[in-house]
Amino acid sequence: DDAYETVVVERRGRTALLTLNRPAALNALNLQVMNEVVAATEALDRDPECGCIVITGSPKAFAAGADIKEMRPQGYLDMYLADWFAAWDRLGQLRTPTVAAVSGYALGGGCELAMLCDILLAADTAVFGQPEIRLGVIPGIGGSQRLTRAVGKAKAMELVLTGRTMDATEAERAGLVSRVVPADDLVPEALAVAETVAGMSLPVAMMAKEAVARAFETTLAEGVRFERRLFHAVFATADQKEGMSAFTEKRPAAFRHR
Ligand code: CAA
Repeated sequence: DDAYETVVVERRGRTALLTLNRPAALNALNLQVMNEVVAATEALDRDPECGCIVITGSPKAFAAGADIKEMRPQGYLDMYLADWFAAWDRLGQLRTPTVAAVSGYALGGGCELAMLCDILLAADTAVFGQPEIRLGVIPGIGGSQRLTRAVGKAKAMELVLTGRTMDATEAERAGLVSRVVPADDLVPEALAVAETVAGMSLPVAMMAKEAVARAFETTLAEGVRFERRLFHAVFATADQKEGMSAFTEKRPAAFRHR
């Protein structure tokens, strides 16, 4: 969309590719980037023709963090009254599935942005970390919570307290990313994953996303109850009939709601 200066949005059939485009600052996430990413993804989220959103950066940097130069002069009241970073929460509230395609640096806010996405694919060049402590601050877009849930206390504590980064292999072993691919294949592979997701029933994909996301919010018993309600609900869709009929008739499913 021409209205954005720091992100480029390209529609590709039923998927969308959002590329962070602030190369002079390694895609540092200032408030303009935040507002444009959130506005662009919320617009895609409202579009029933869009079944999956890929977010990527450049080969060198997915994003090198929140913008240090923008934050440096701020005081407590500035941060509090602006509710600094609150808009990022809306990215986690999207109903459309999202894929982060991470190449190069994903540090601080960059790592947090990647963790706000549903599927996280990494290039073999990816570098993850929460180095805020070296700047005299702590993560502010959910890193202390999402990294801990993703990789466990042991590794999260070490990364957050020392600022050490981890490479793609370590990130995959730790469970932060679903897969590592050669850097040249990253965006095509992410788009292929997005295409696959977008080929499913959109409401069913939304419910699947909601169910997995609920695992981060609640107890096991409540989460299983939530899943069971949604599982029963999908039987109200034409796409359940189509998916199960297609299997029985040995043909590919052609979902209606996508
Ligand atoms: N904020 C603002 N500008 C940044 C930036 C950031 N997070 N990261 C990089 N840049 C800028 C640099 O200042 C530099 O600009 P100039 O050319 O005008 O000096 C430009 O991007 C290129 O960066 P480098 O010259 O440093 O590139 P490099 O290849 O030598 O190093 C790097 C790359 C190791 C990623 C290094 O840029 C770096 O350490 N960046 C900061 C990483 C960081 O600390 N991130 C956490 C930020 S705090 C945060 O994110 C809070 C939160 O929880 C939300």
